Amino acid sequence: MDTAGIVLAAGAGTRMKSKRPKVTHELLGRPLVMWPICALKEAGIADICVVVGPEDTQVSELVSGAAHTAVQQQKLGTADATKAAMDTAELATFEGNVVLVYGDCPLLSADTIRHLVDVRIQEDAACVVLTFKVEEPFGYGRIIREDTFSSDVPTGQVVAIVEEKDADEEQARVRECNSGFYCFDAAALRSALVQVGCDNAQGEYYITDVVEIFRAQGSKVVALETEDALECYGVNSRMQLAEATRIMQRRINDAHMASGVTMLAPDLVWIGPDVEIEPDVELLQNVTLMGSTRIGEDSVIGPDTRLANTIVGRGCTVDETVALDARIDDGATTGPRAYLRPGAHLCRGAKAGTHVEIKKSTIGEGSKVPHLSYIGDTTMGSGVNVGAGSITCNYDGTHKHPTVIGDDTFIGSDTMMVAPVNIGSNATVGAGSVITKDVPDDALAVARARESIYDGWTPAHRK
Ligand code: UD1
Ligand code: CA
Repeated sequence: MDTAGIVLAAGAGTRMKSKRPKVTHELLGRPLVMWPICALKEAGIADICVVVGPEDTQVSELVSGAAHTAVQQQKLGTADATKAAMDTAELATFEGNVVLVYGDCPLLSADTIRHLVDVRIQEDAACVVLTFKVEEPFGYGRIIREDTFSSDVPTGQVVAIVEEKDADEEQARVRECNSGFYCFDAAALRSALVQVGCDNAQGEYYITDVVEIFRAQGSKVVALETEDALECYGVNSRMQLAEATRIMQRRINDAHMASGVTMLAPDLVWIGPDVEIEPDVELLQNVTLMGSTRIGEDSVIGPDTRLANTIVGRGCTVDETVALDARIDDGATTGPRAYLRPGAHLCRGAKAGTHVEIKKSTIGEGSKVPHLSYIGDTTMGSGVNVGAGSITCNYDGTHKHPTVIGDDTFIGSDTMMVAPVNIGSNATVGAGSVITKDVPDDALAVARARESIYDGWTPAHRK
């Protein structure tokens, strides 16, 4: 049976006190709205509709490619938002399961989504709702089952979901809550949505009201209680964003440790959801690994390192380094205090040392740039040594120009390589040179003022 997904994300998010939509805020480098979308995809649901407000172009851009969108013209409530999704061309005649989730709940897992769908099919229910129990249910919709008030451990079908603001005293004492995650039968949902009214404390069209409509027509509504109430955690404020980050950070780090990654201080390591790490990697304190970063086995990362979309090979040492869209091959070393910008590629065994910045350049196998250098738009062969303080002058104020350095060449300290320039293989450049002309293979280039000696000058001038 086909399954479609709907993510409600048209809410105002006023408690974030932000000029941008709540669901664009990031949790471990991934926007909030992308978390439920990724969970739905992981559960095998390809067809996803995200409901956005008329002004939320940022959200539409974020999700484009992963989902189609429906615009909810006015925020009339969760049933109205769901109807906006069901009215899109993609879902208007859809038959099968519809999984509905909220865009501000990033901790929902793919396993739970699969479970919701399986239970709906097994039970042939119009709706399965995920529920959780808490000591302090304030603010959540309460799950009223057939036997909620007659049994200590109610297990019956759901007869209603009552919002906090509409609950009487007895209902308000119920500790089983609505997570906001549901699996519906598409046709049953479609016919119930048009019957939902707004005669309640908030004057809103509640999706939770479809439960009573299903019951009245004799259809089944099943509650599935989650084992992990944290999955239902919603982000409404910056405090809750920090808390959700902490929970997800722990979940991700535990999974990496379980598969053989060492972290002595996991609270000081932040790893994005798409990062891949091989066993026997060691992550020291204050390490942030984001985006599509990958780390090969036996590498040591940190302390104080931030890597984004960076591929690190095996047996690398990456100490106090910032690397963005970079590649560090097997056995290479960086830092302390290295900055690898987009397009930096350290080949096998290469080194970018202290206070070294590299941009859009290849540093060949075993080549070393150990101290205080800037290398940009450069292709460097293997076995090169770049002396301290050397710089490729790649920018003339208008255009960027390339530098090429051959294999086994020695660049003396404090060399300025004024691009475009080619320095051959096995060449030597004297320290302090300003290289403006190409240097042939095997040559020595010296481009600096000659030293003059004036005997006895100092005593004669010091009074
Ligand atoms: C909702 C549930 C409640 C449940 C709780 C779980 C309803 C009526 N209530 O309450 O039973 O316990 O979630 O967190 O559904 N949204 C729209 N358009 C709207 C209104 C809301 O897209 O017109 C979106 C919001 O962006 C949000 C989600 O729907 O992602 C939930 O809306 P919200 O107003 O936060 O519902 P709650 O009061 O939290
Ligand atoms: Ca909410």
